[in-house]
Amino acid sequence: MTLKPYKIAIIGFGTVGEGVYETIEKKSEKLGLLLGRQVEVPVVLVKNGDKPRQVSRKTEITTSFDLILNKKEIDAVVEATPDAATGYPYAAALLEKGVSVITANKELVAKHGEELQRLAERSGADLLYEAAVAGGIPLLNTLRHTLKTNTIDKLEGILNGTSNYILTKMRTERAPFTSALEEAQEKGYAEAVPDKDVDGWDAYYKTTILSRWIYGKSPVWQDNAPRGIRNVASEDIKLAEKAGGRLKHIASLVKRGTEVHASVTPCFLLDNHPLYNVEGVNNGINIEGSIVGSVLLQGPGAGKFPTASAVVEDLVNLLKNKHELPESKGTEFLSHGLNKEAGEHSDEDNSVYFLAWDGSAAKKAALPGEAVLWQSENEFGTSAAIVHFPGESARGLEKFQRNGGRVYPLSTNNPVNTIRADISKEEGKKRLSYI
Ligand code: HSE
Repeated sequence: MTLKPYKIAIIGFGTVGEGVYETIEKKSEKLGLLLGRQVEVPVVLVKNGDKPRQVSRKTEITTSFDLILNKKEIDAVVEATPDAATGYPYAAALLEKGVSVITANKELVAKHGEELQRLAERSGADLLYEAAVAGGIPLLNTLRHTLKTNTIDKLEGILNGTSNYILTKMRTERAPFTSALEEAQEKGYAEAVPDKDVDGWDAYYKTTILSRWIYGKSPVWQDNAPRGIRNVASEDIKLAEKAGGRLKHIASLVKRGTEVHASVTPCFLLDNHPLYNVEGVNNGINIEGSIVGSVLLQGPGAGKFPTASAVVEDLVNLLKNKHELPESKGTEFLSHGLNKEAGEHSDEDNSVYFLAWDGSAAKKAALPGEAVLWQSENEFGTSAAIVHFPGESARGLEKFQRNGGRVYPLSTNNPVNTIRADISKEEGKKRLSYI
């Protein structure tokens, strides 16, 4: 006897929704083998019902959410709307009713994840969101299922594909910011409102989700708001290269005692940093586990099919195993996350920064207590320096920023002397490559 096909509804038919639909169609044979049943998409919810859509005759396009909510035979819903305000009412109503939801919507999970998880637990449904963090990279499942005995002491990631794509284009092709952003939009990497990408909010949502996923609580943020890449000047990128480094948009989570500290900001990386070679639309996540050491996961962080891959894998796991542990049930894992066991991250605060400003090197008023490790200026009147502040630096840096200076923390665990040696080594290599 052939079993009845699984029936999936999709809400939203933009880049992600369409990618999921096409993947289910293209991989129907494989899905049938994995699940022992076919997977069908009988209904797709869209905002604009008049727009032509590439779907088979078996799929109904509707603008009525009630049609999905009241359909009895729906096994799961893929929620693929672009923001929390749009996705929340759908996800909440479905989970309340006991229908499992798979989403790629990071803003939805960051803002309402805890509440939605409670709704899911109450009704016995599941909320899965592997696709919401780092696109196609199997990050959440790796953390929870294959690193559960490790304490995660520190995690650093390039979590926004659009920002990494833009910074890479600006460096390798000298592309202006605006045209690199337009390309990222054309390729389907950017959010519907790309400000969320370039102002750091997308990475901020993903970092929030990661903190809750790993440690069971939201992080303490270093700043009130994330810093994005909008103000990264092309000249800063070139000067960073001259110093042997790259500017990358870095999200970080560091466990300190029972707290988790987070930041999202463009940083200066030397070529011995694990994320230095993560380029283009790729995301990279360097995880420091207390047993395994340092693990780098890298792969496409945005785009139609990488995101669809993560959604469809969640779908298969849901239909096959109902495998996922809701956060409150994963207590062994969470208690390992924040206790004070050995292996806790204890990097010294290096306080080394790559600073850039418009004007000559001499124009910058010296910051109190700074030690200059490297300094340069270019023919366009931009200057840069790598400086070390052995003491309290925040106020001096704030003043520097208020006067138009740009600050990029140097991301490394190495002590200052090693950094100094690395910089002169890198600079030497660059000089040789120019000859
Ligand atoms: N706009 C997002 C990015 C999509 O560029 O990373 C994937 O979350």
